[in-house]
Amino acid sequence: MKKIAVLTSGGDSPGMNAAIRAVVRKGIYSGLEVYGVYQGYAGLMNGKIKRLDLGSVGDIIHRGGTILYSARSEEFKKDESQYLAIEQLRKHEIEGLVVIGGDGSYRGAAKLTEKGFPCIGLPGTIDNDIAGTDYTIGFDTALNTVISSIDKIRDTATSHDRTFIIEVMGRHAGDIALFSGLASGAESILIPERNHEINEIVQKLQKGIERGKKHSIIVLAEGVCSAHDLAKSLEKDYQIETRISVLGHIQRGGSPSGFDRVLASRLGARAVEVLLEGRGGRAIGMQKQKIVDNDIMEILSQKDPLPEGVYTLSQQLSI
Ligand code: F6P
Repeated sequence: MKKIAVLTSGGDSPGMNAAIRAVVRKGIYSGLEVYGVYQGYAGLMNGKIKRLDLGSVGDIIHRGGTILYSARSEEFKKDESQYLAIEQLRKHEIEGLVVIGGDGSYRGAAKLTEKGFPCIGLPGTIDNDIAGTDYTIGFDTALNTVISSIDKIRDTATSHDRTFIIEVMGRHAGDIALFSGLASGAESILIPERNHEINEIVQKLQKGIERGKKHSIIVLAEGVCSAHDLAKSLEKDYQIETRISVLGHIQRGGSPSGFDRVLASRLGARAVEVLLEGRGGRAIGMQKQKIVDNDIMEILSQKDPLPEGVYTLSQQLSI
């Protein structure tokens, strides 16, 4: 193998640049030519491919976003689009592709591998919802962004004796809500993996009030419902006035944490090694501090489990 390429796809996450840098530098260190594909799979179909050198990835390890840009592409789900993508790669004599993204991006990588083009998946998403890795690139940074926002909101919640609902990202995965809720001492944490009764939330708020607590933080994952809807229902049915804060895309930006930079560098470098070993269709991850690779199809068929112990603990500490 002489030439490989790298792309970022789906929602961006802090640390993607560090992963790109690792793929490029480890590739060049190993004697390969490395190419960047711009704008994810959409760009790949359109042949937006450029050679990257050591300097192309200089001064990016600390930057959020992705220098290769990202996109979500419906078009790429079609077989003919996947063949077109392979044609574009072969035009440049590229023989392997590293895809950095979430599960949608992994699906694309699996499809290309199935069609004869070896791809490796790197878990780049703030959601931390990819099986086969304890952490995804960007989760730690997003978590810290959320925690520092909640800390600030707590200041004003305390001053005004208010209940706040803070909506965080996570359509299907509650990791951001769970970890940030635990780390910021939230009174209630609502995640899509659990059924939550509004009565329970209200009882908890009332119990707090009874023991003299006048402010509360509810961390709500967007996949449960919207903060607006929850606020309306608390007000209408229980006469509980709240304030809401929807953190939104602020969670996806910012300089990656040290943890994310190291994780991205380790996973990116390993992706190159696995391609050089002649293996495609693998998903790289970190499990129990070790860098591992698994069959990408198997990873896609598994649901990343919610850390039960962390959920139980969050319940025990927020009584
Ligand atoms: O997959 C990452 C993620 O940030 C989710 O948590 C969120 O629901 C979604 O992307 C938002 O996507 P978009 O930026 O396309 O609106």
